[in-house]
Amino acid sequence: MCGIVGVVGKHEAAPILVEALKRLEYRGYDSAGIATVNEGRLDRRRAVGKLANLSDLLVHQPLPGKIGIGHTRWATHGAPSVSNSHPHQAGSVAVVHNGIIENYRELRAELAEFGIQPETETDTEIVAQLTEHYLQNGDAPIAAAYRALDRLEGAFALAFVFDGHDDLMVVARQGSPLAIGHGDGEMYIGSDAIALAPMTNQVSYLEEGDRAVLSRAGATIHDAAGATVTREIKTIAIDAAHVDKGGHKHFMAKEINEQPTVIAEAIRCYLPTGSNSVTLEGVDLDFRNVERLTMVACGTAYYACLTAKYWFEQLAGLPVEVDVASEFRYREPPMPAKSMALFVSQSGETADTLAALRYCTGKVDGILSVVNAAESSIARESDIALPIHAGVEIGVASTKAFTCQLTVLLILALKAASDRGTMDEAQIADHVAALRGLPSALNTALEQSEAIRRAALRLSEARDVLFLGRGIMYPLAMEGALKLKEISYIHAEGYPAGELKHGPIALIDKNMPVVFMTPTDALFDKTMSNMQEVMARKGKVLMISDAAGLSAGGNDLWNSIAMPEIHASLTPILYALPAQLLAYHTAVAKGTDVDQPRNLAKSVTVE
Ligand code: AGP
Repeated sequence: MCGIVGVVGKHEAAPILVEALKRLEYRGYDSAGIATVNEGRLDRRRAVGKLANLSDLLVHQPLPGKIGIGHTRWATHGAPSVSNSHPHQAGSVAVVHNGIIENYRELRAELAEFGIQPETETDTEIVAQLTEHYLQNGDAPIAAAYRALDRLEGAFALAFVFDGHDDLMVVARQGSPLAIGHGDGEMYIGSDAIALAPMTNQVSYLEEGDRAVLSRAGATIHDAAGATVTREIKTIAIDAAHVDKGGHKHFMAKEINEQPTVIAEAIRCYLPTGSNSVTLEGVDLDFRNVERLTMVACGTAYYACLTAKYWFEQLAGLPVEVDVASEFRYREPPMPAKSMALFVSQSGETADTLAALRYCTGKVDGILSVVNAAESSIARESDIALPIHAGVEIGVASTKAFTCQLTVLLILALKAASDRGTMDEAQIADHVAALRGLPSALNTALEQSEAIRRAALRLSEARDVLFLGRGIMYPLAMEGALKLKEISYIHAEGYPAGELKHGPIALIDKNMPVVFMTPTDALFDKTMSNMQEVMARKGKVLMISDAAGLSAGGNDLWNSIAMPEIHASLTPILYALPAQLLAYHTAVAKGTDVDQPRNLAKSVTVE
């Protein structure tokens, strides 16, 4: 997704802006640029490709000035090109934008009547042109920007700077997040607090519809009704150390290896040591009167919801409906009485998931969210937001956030079982004890990394891969397929193993690797039958199971990965790790951009 940054400072802005943009690279982008105002003169530099290209340009064509804005662009309207890169400038104003202006064509036609023609293929350009138009008609900069903002429809986080003004920046937030950083005689803005980490940990978040005028003295914030408001300044725990690779080759490798630690932290936060009950002290949540739970998310978070459906239904006897956010609200689903809605999102800013949350607001008895970004829009608009404590996740492919989501969702399902009386104390204590052993099992699983790397070398030659699982392992089969395809670009599909003979088995031949994610659980024997069907057709079976399972798999396996034995309820969390490592090592073998795969963004803040 696009990222925006800005500084109204006492030092040269260009290096600060580029450093802040580096911390937004994880969002995915295809071009970048900055603009500064130096002794009253507005100018900009832009480059296609990685930030290094912009940095090189700045070496040869320096851009002085102590106030500026910056942008990493993930193309929505118009191909990646210098002319389509932000900042967009029209006369004496430059802007950077994250989001989509939905009525830009209408505004473009309106300006054409004044002889103002587009110079780019982007929607953002219209914001600069509209502001310049109002400036030319006599408005002062703030009034011109606010008047342009009044005309915009869609989602935007915007920042404006003006020729002739080196102590003035206007910013606005509607549908896309925007944080304000408070420095010592300096002010900053960023799409998230990670971008601000090198400059400050004193951060406030604009609310929906907020606008703000920044100078070195501070920020004046106006809410959607135009009233002057204050937004709480929080000390954010992100420091520069959180955004380095910790000695690993990629952020994704670091984050895969962090899972035992961060899951232990999540368990510690929700299951205080010394107790084997699930009370969620301080969380005002009671499932006794809930008759249905609706869960909505996107991508990996959606697969976390599908997995949690098994836990809520099997452990708590609570019916669960799960849907992808981009479909949910357009279905216009009726929300029955005595129901709750739960939204899962690592970033807490995914546009489709946020829109689904807003669809449910006022229709259900409670809005819950399970998020990694505690200050995000989804968290703020929930009745109860439950943090997953995964820490900053930079790799576009979600790994530790997924397993932390699963951990918190399982704990929630145990809470529901406790409230509804479907599990007795001993059964709950048994699950809690198993959860406390999960970090150790994950560490054991990490020891398989080299074996998985060898399997990945063979997998990297495949054109298509099938991932199969039964029961609670079926959503994980889809997650394993997503991991592989999104970072190695190998086509992969996840399927319920029982569906094989209803079509996909036609794909099986000696060139087709089939990954079976199958602990020795209650459905193991049925899954083994499916495995035999594949092997009978020369399919290449890669079996992920525990020792007993691999022994039953026999000696004709194309490849195998051994997992430690673990409580049946925890297998999806544990087996996520080999799926992640398989994708990671395959991508490394293929030489793709592991942390920033092509076309992908870390947080999809547009529909
Ligand atoms: C997962 O590896 C992908 N990066 C993507 O599917 C992601 O899970 C999805 O976009 C949802 O993001 P969120 O959790 O921030 O809402």
